[in-house]
Amino acid sequence: MLDFNFLNPVKIIFGKGKIARLSKEILRKHKILMVYGGGSIKRNGVYQQVREALIEHQIVEFPGVESNPKYETLVKGIELVRKEKIDFILAVGGGSVIDGSKFIAAGAFYDKDPWDIVSKHAKIQKALPLGTVLTLPATGSEMNANSVISRRDSQEKLAFHSVHIFPQFSILDPSVTFSLPSEQIANGVVDAFVHVMEQYLTYPVNAPLQDRMAEAILITLMEEGPKALLSPQDYDTRANIMWSATMALNHLIGVGVPSDWSTHTMSHELTASCGLDHARSLAIIFPSLVYFQRKEKRAKILQYAERVLRLPFPSISSDGDQDKMDSIVELAIERTRQFFEGMGIKTRLRDYAINESAIPSLLEKLEGHGMVKLGERGSITLDTCKQILERSL
Ligand code: NZQ
Ligand code: ZN
Repeated sequence: MLDFNFLNPVKIIFGKGKIARLSKEILRKHKILMVYGGGSIKRNGVYQQVREALIEHQIVEFPGVESNPKYETLVKGIELVRKEKIDFILAVGGGSVIDGSKFIAAGAFYDKDPWDIVSKHAKIQKALPLGTVLTLPATGSEMNANSVISRRDSQEKLAFHSVHIFPQFSILDPSVTFSLPSEQIANGVVDAFVHVMEQYLTYPVNAPLQDRMAEAILITLMEEGPKALLSPQDYDTRANIMWSATMALNHLIGVGVPSDWSTHTMSHELTASCGLDHARSLAIIFPSLVYFQRKEKRAKILQYAERVLRLPFPSISSDGDQDKMDSIVELAIERTRQFFEGMGIKTRLRDYAINESAIPSLLEKLEGHGMVKLGERGSITLDTCKQILERSL
């Protein structure tokens, strides 16, 4: 196992009706900026639950945070924080609202252009305290210190990380996810699945606990994801998906093991340039990327094939039949693609009317952002990215 430090201070409050706990989590003295998205919380009753819970608190609202939250919008949130002397941020929504709130929380104390936070990795000394009410299980943002921000004018999508942006608490009520359209349930399951893969499908370092935990999350998502589409009103299924998505990216499974994140890096460029949902970009890139990394990742792909997909094959320690092992590796990749497709997520660029003419500018963007040695071994070059994109057509 590799050495590691681990810190995760986020208090999780999980269960039906738990939004009412907000009044206990945020002190009365705080002036709150309530950040939310395009209005789903008004249609599903979450907005009313939050306002009722915080009836005695002073609240300023900041609605309109888009999917793939935009810098151009969020700077207005920063201005509002300063003008209204806000001292607590409450994010009510999915990953975009939470990430956008993290950016506002950090940007409020940054006196230059806040875009530096993502583009120049400007050091964050301080951020406003933040709490979240999660409405879409997917990103893990409710229990991590990451944020991904997009910029409309330059079509960029970049991430930042700081211990100062961990939420103080996150309320996870699975029943608020009943109003999600099936495409968003599918997006969430696939995003969480790929988060686990980025931390699991690398190379073995003798970390059986992390491996088993990762495999448990993968199996749960593969079992519960289709169930959520078939039985959309099943609370337990929603609860299992919600907790799996949080566990997929609160970094517990990623400690002491190598991590990859190249599918995410490439997908962020695809989303920024072509406007696809985050999870759909991942579903396009992931199978092709793993195909080109199949030698480097071979041991873990075989382990995944045996323990998660339960594909029938001889002992994985046998060095006998190489061809047979190669075909198991390819079958595992194909089965993963089938899982995404079975969730209703298309896995080819052509499914989204994107053709080879998009590839040169995606490669330029990757190069411009210095993303030229990706993967757990830094072996994915721009040339590999080109091949991956071509195979994704
Ligand atoms: O805007 P509203 O009206 O709220 O509607 C949203 C949005 O249209 C809707 N929605 C959310 N909860 C709902 C609901 N509709 C009905 N009922 C509910 N309960 O769903 C749509 C998508 O929401 P969004 O927040 O954009 O989705 P998601 O949670 O998938 O977040 C995606 C963003 O997170 C970033 C992605 O890059 C993307 O920008 N990520 C953040 C990460 C992190 N912080 O660690 C890691 C991830 O890899 C990812 O990059
Ligand atoms: Zn993701």
